[in-house]
Amino acid sequence: MTHSPVLFQEVMDALQPRAGGRYLDVTAGGGGHAVGVLERSGPDGRLMGTDADPQAVERVTERLRPFGGRAVVARGWIDDAAAMATTAGMTPLDGILADLGLSSYQLAEAERGFAFMREGPLDMRFSAGEGHEPTAAPLVNRAELDELVGWLRAYGEIENPRRVAEAILGARPITTTTQLRDIVAGVARSGRRQRIHPATLVFQALRIVVNDELGRLQRALPDLIAALAPGGRLAVITFHSLEDRMVKVAFREAAIERTAIPGFGSDQVEQAAAVTLVTHKPIEPTEAEIEANPRARSAHLRVVEKR
Ligand SMILES: C[S@@+](CC[C@H](N)C(=O)[O-])C[C@H]1O[C@@H](n2cnc3c(N)ncnc32)[C@H](O)[C@@H]1O
Repeated sequence: MTHSPVLFQEVMDALQPRAGGRYLDVTAGGGGHAVGVLERSGPDGRLMGTDADPQAVERVTERLRPFGGRAVVARGWIDDAAAMATTAGMTPLDGILADLGLSSYQLAEAERGFAFMREGPLDMRFSAGEGHEPTAAPLVNRAELDELVGWLRAYGEIENPRRVAEAILGARPITTTTQLRDIVAGVARSGRRQRIHPATLVFQALRIVVNDELGRLQRALPDLIAALAPGGRLAVITFHSLEDRMVKVAFREAAIERTAIPGFGSDQVEQAAAVTLVTHKPIEPTEAEIEANPRARSAHLRVVEKR
């Protein structure tokens, strides 16, 4: 089993890896995009790969070994990655990639608790074995009804969050992924025109909360933009509409040119935009890519270039 990198050619076109360049992949995962960048930036381009998941770090370290000193891999969350790159002497960067969400490896391992197709504990931590953040189990078993409804509505975008939350409360304690799946399946309608199992969206919502994925993305974006060299590019692939909106807003905000308004005080000074938008609309996978790799289904790629 391997992880097929999503929007691979589109990411390479966006980052335009070149000899001597410095790159940062903040979601190294299975190393697919990272290998692409290193192959295209030979003989001396360098790449730092980071990931919250210690197993991903092990895997990518092994995969990037043939590139020797051109590649360095470390464990870290996306909101620490820019600082880690600075400490490693990698900034300013010519290209940064964030390819958010889950890897196929994480989905395949039952004990990680990400997949409802396999029986496992309700864990869902990207950083299992390292961090001290709670797993999904206390969220599922101790959250108040309204809290659960809020998560399911906002992060799962499911149609009947209260019904699902009530069913969860009524079935506690819930200890396994398959138990949670069956409770959800008993009450939920399938999401997005019946194309996906309703448990997909419930699991997605819990995973986002467990890993504070939106909070981390919000904090990371300004730091990643700041870590770019002039002409350097930041490419972000999201799989959730809230994440895509967050990236869109952060990129537009960074692309705004502020000009001085005479007579309106010293805070109204001229401020050049930090970036230009390379993509005005997100790049989405082709039908052929979705057919070959259904995980690509909801991917959105946005790119900015540092001025
Ligand atoms: C979709 S995979 C990346 C796949 C990779 N681009 C490749 O080609 O193999 C996402 C990876 O990002 C990691 N990840 C997701 N959110 C993260 C975050 N907020 N901080 C750090 N790592 C994160 C996950 O652990 C997972 O390994």
